[in-house]
Amino acid sequence: MSIDANRAENKASVPLQYLNELNPSYYDNNYQRTDVRIDELTGDKLGKKLLPNELHSNSESSAESSAAAAFTQEYIDAISKSHPISTTPPDLKTFKPPPITHWTGDTLDLDEITLDYEKVTTNESDASKALSNLYTHGLCLIKNTPSSESSIYDLSLLFTGPSKIPLSPSSSRDVYTSNSGPLRTLFGSTWSTTTNPTLQGSQTSHSDSAYTQSSLPLHTDSTYFSTPPGLQIFCMKTPASDKSGKSTYLDGFSATSLLKKKYPDSYDILKSTIFKYRYIDNETGWHLEAEGTIICVDGTSLEENVKSIRHNDLDRVGCLPPRGIRGDEVKVEEFYRKVEEALERWDEVINEEGRKVVVGLEEGDCMVVYNRRCMHGREAFNLKQEEGGRSIVGCYTGADELESRWRCLFTT
Ligand SMILES: [Fe+2]
Repeated sequence: MSIDANRAENKASVPLQYLNELNPSYYDNNYQRTDVRIDELTGDKLGKKLLPNELHSNSESSAESSAAAAFTQEYIDAISKSHPISTTPPDLKTFKPPPITHWTGDTLDLDEITLDYEKVTTNESDASKALSNLYTHGLCLIKNTPSSESSIYDLSLLFTGPSKIPLSPSSSRDVYTSNSGPLRTLFGSTWSTTTNPTLQGSQTSHSDSAYTQSSLPLHTDSTYFSTPPGLQIFCMKTPASDKSGKSTYLDGFSATSLLKKKYPDSYDILKSTIFKYRYIDNETGWHLEAEGTIICVDGTSLEENVKSIRHNDLDRVGCLPPRGIRGDEVKVEEFYRKVEEALERWDEVINEEGRKVVVGLEEGDCMVVYNRRCMHGREAFNLKQEEGGRSIVGCYTGADELESRWRCLFTT
C-alpha cells in the first residue's frame, strides 16, 4: 500500500497533521528537531520553521528522508492503539507492549506475578519478566528478597535507568553518580516503616500514618509531589508475629474503567477536577504541596487513556470550582454536589466486594507496585514495642525512568 493510501485510510484515526509532525525528515540523529530556525549567535528562535525540502541540501539526503517518511501500516497501527506511553520514531521500529490486564482481588493470580529475587537480579530474561509483569498488572511480587538496603537498591536498578547496562550489584556502582536506582525523597533513598523508633533514621521524615500501627486506606503514594514516584518497592523484613497487618492492593485502571462505565458523569468530574494535596512535617521541617486530578488522562494519545491515578483521602485538601462559575452561588453549589457525588461513587467502586487483593507478605516478600496505577493499603496490626515491631524496607523509583525502561524493552 502506498504512503498516501496509508495516510488516507488512517486519516480518521491519525490526523495527517500529526503524522507530518512525526516525519523523520524533521529530526536529526539525536532525535531533535531540525526544522526549527535558531539564530546561531544568540539562540533566539526565528520565524517560520523550515520546510522539508529546505532541510536537506543535496538530492541524496532528500531521497533518504523521503524513504524514511514511508510510515508502514504496522507503525500507523501502533500509534493508533490505546497504549499511553510511546510514540516511537519510525526508524526505531514500533512499540509493542504486552497487554494491560485489568484485575480485581477475585481475578488476580498471584503466582502469575511472582518471581524470585536471585533470578531477577542475575538473569536478563527474568528481569524482563518483572518489567512485563509491572506493565501488564501494575504489580510484581519478588520472593526471597534479602532485607538489606543494598538488596533493595539492586532490585531498584531493574526498573530504572538506562536499559543497556548489564545487571550488576550496587556494590560495583558509585551511588552518588549513578543515573539509576532509588528516588531520593523526604523519606531518604531507601526507607523503613516500622513501629520501632530505633530502626527509624533521625533526619528523614516520619510524619506519616505508615509509621503507625493503624490500618491504611487504599491510596497512591506521594500525591503531594508534582510527579509522584513511579514504583513503590517494599520488602517485608519482619512480619507481625500474629500475621496481622496484611497488605492490600487495588487496580486503579480497573476501578476507573468501572467508574466510567457505571457513572460516566462522575468519571468526567474526577478526570477534570483539580485537587490540592499536602504533606507537613513540623518536626523535620517539610511542607509539600501539589495538585492534580484523581484520574489523569493522557492528552497526547489518540484514544482516551487513563495514564495515572492520584488518590489519597488523607492527604487531599480540596478543590475549587472552575473560574468561570465562581461567584455564582447556584452553580458553585451544584459543582460541589457533583464532586461529592463523584467521590462517593469512586469510594463505592474502590470498596466493592472482591475488588482489592489482600496479601499476607512473608519475610523476604517484596511487592513492587506501579504507583501510577495501583493503590496500596494495610490492615491494622497490634504489636508491643518490645517485640521490635513489624518492619518493611523499601524505596521509590522514578516514573519517567520506569517508562523509559518499558519503551526500550517493548520497542522491536
Ligand atoms: Fe503508602
